[in-house]
Amino acid sequence: VIFPRPDDFHVHLRQGAALALYTQDLAANFGRALIMPNTLPPVRDPAGLIAYRDQIVTAAQSAIPAGGSFIPLMSFKLLGDMLATNIAPLKAAGAVAAKLYPQGATTNAQDGVAEIETLFPVFQALQDENIVLCIHSEDPQAFCLDREKAFLPHIRSILQAFPRLRVVIEHASTAEAVQFVLDGPDRLGATITVHHLLYDLDAVIGDHLQPHMFCKPVLKRPEDKLALQHAVSSGHPRFFFGSDSAPHDRVKKECDCGAAGVYSAPVALPLLAEFFSTHANQTTMQNFIARNGALFYGLPLPGDQPGAGTVELTEQPWTVPAQYHGVVPLAAGSTLGWSVRPITKGKS
Ligand code: DOR
Ligand code: ZN
Repeated sequence: VIFPRPDDFHVHLRQGAALALYTQDLAANFGRALIMPNTLPPVRDPAGLIAYRDQIVTAAQSAIPAGGSFIPLMSFKLLGDMLATNIAPLKAAGAVAAKLYPQGATTNAQDGVAEIETLFPVFQALQDENIVLCIHSEDPQAFCLDREKAFLPHIRSILQAFPRLRVVIEHASTAEAVQFVLDGPDRLGATITVHHLLYDLDAVIGDHLQPHMFCKPVLKRPEDKLALQHAVSSGHPRFFFGSDSAPHDRVKKECDCGAAGVYSAPVALPLLAEFFSTHANQTTMQNFIARNGALFYGLPLPGDQPGAGTVELTEQPWTVPAQYHGVVPLAAGSTLGWSVRPITKGKS
């Protein structure tokens, strides 16, 4: 099966020396990606955004297969002290999305937003500038399995207060969030990760403790997974792929205060191919990874971009490496039914 090099609408590439390695793993398989801003320090101003994008573009070069391209789509982090006047310059620097992290909700979110309502003037500016508001939808005060559901009322208020603002519920993990999107307006979408689509909480704590499956939002109940699977296999256009690929060194995961995050960028496409071959079909897969998100964001479709290139998925068994540069990936060591073949020059 040949697809246009797809989009990943939610990915973490970090900072420092590791950035190049994570970028290369991603650019090998994806043509575009929305880059999350929870780096240290965060992406929060035009200069920081441009510098971060330049680093990613440079790092990607060596990993882009001949005949393809890689475009980082940039986001910035909403902070409590941000002003409405900060937004237009970020848009001018190329930002397509703003990311809202409730304070303390996840990795590097200590500087997240404590009182969502205090940011309403900033949301007004996002609406005026046509920037998408991406939300880590969890209330960190709630019980861990209820955090996503507990945050939905905030999203309802935001949608009501800003009738033209586009909003994405990131890494939707519950049946409630799926229903909320289905009941919502066309300007409300959700990303779905491959791990929330294929696994439930049993993969984290059902048998042995599996730190490499620990992420925020935590994997949920089987019925939540089924609701996500149904949303995806039905081909609903407001659900699209965002890996939330979030690498942490093995030692940061296998310790007494383990970091949240699943490293899935290198394995996402074969796992999705397996899912779609049994639950849906090729067209639905192509829409999920290379159409729905682009339409929601108002970007050219991957297949329509000159020089974007293609990726081939073949039904050839592939054993996932135990580690990528010290990070244990999703499905490490297991043999999958599908593998990715890089595009070849000349094919478009
Ligand atoms: O598990 C997660 N890891 N969830 C997030 O929201 C952030 C991410 C990270 O940056 O490690
Ligand atoms: Zn994330």
